[in-house]
Amino acid sequence: MNINVIFNPVYADDLYFTGKNSVVIDVLRATSTIVTALDNGAKEVIPVATVEFAVKVSGGMFGGLTLLCGERNTKKLEGFALGNSPFEFTQDVVKGKSIVLFTTNGSKAIVKAKFSSSQILCSFINLNAVADRIAAAGSDIEIVCSGNQNNFSIEDTVCAGRLISEVMQRREKVTLTDSAKASFTLNKSFGRSIQKMLIDSEHGKLLLENGFEKDLKYCSKINTSQSVPFFSGNVIKL
Ligand code: MLT
Repeated sequence: MNINVIFNPVYADDLYFTGKNSVVIDVLRATSTIVTALDNGAKEVIPVATVEFAVKVSGGMFGGLTLLCGERNTKKLEGFALGNSPFEFTQDVVKGKSIVLFTTNGSKAIVKAKFSSSQILCSFINLNAVADRIAAAGSDIEIVCSGNQNNFSIEDTVCAGRLISEVMQRREKVTLTDSAKASFTLNKSFGRSIQKMLIDSEHGKLLLENGFEKDLKYCSKINTSQSVPFFSGNVIKL
């Protein structure tokens, strides 16, 4: 089993993902929020790469059953029902709803890897469930870190490293590319206190400045969910 890590989706062309099995990570906060929304009964999440497309897609869907959600610079977009904080996606708000989601990095990364044979979403909150699934399948994996504005992000890379470490505990003969080895090593040092790592990260600092301290704590928890969201046919479901 071979594992590669892509530090930011800008490093890969859309067609690179054809035939690959991908795992997309956006710890702060898109994949943590998507897991939460689906755990709280959302019917599906439809990730989009632009705000314009989000408005277009939600306009063609039946009112009331669709929620237009997303953020820019961590804050809810004007006219949208929800932002991108997991605390907004409560059961009473999202149950049975289709969520159209635009985020600065995460939803774009998911859409970028759309030609993958399979794509699953990972965060710290569902890490072991994803590790179980990947290890059981035994196929080669591309881990896609959503990154931060076309740049590297430590939180996604440490999460990738921890996922690799969990898979290696479940399977023998795992071969790592250089980027996968680097992620594995980063997790060994920065993964010791995930909450501290998030607080010290660039995006974590931005979230703190904007009053999302609770979100950092929430996204730092490991294995609070057993869910494995799949992206297939333009929608994310469990
Ligand atoms: C992103 O996709 O960049 C993030 O989820 C942004 C955020 O809401 O913190």
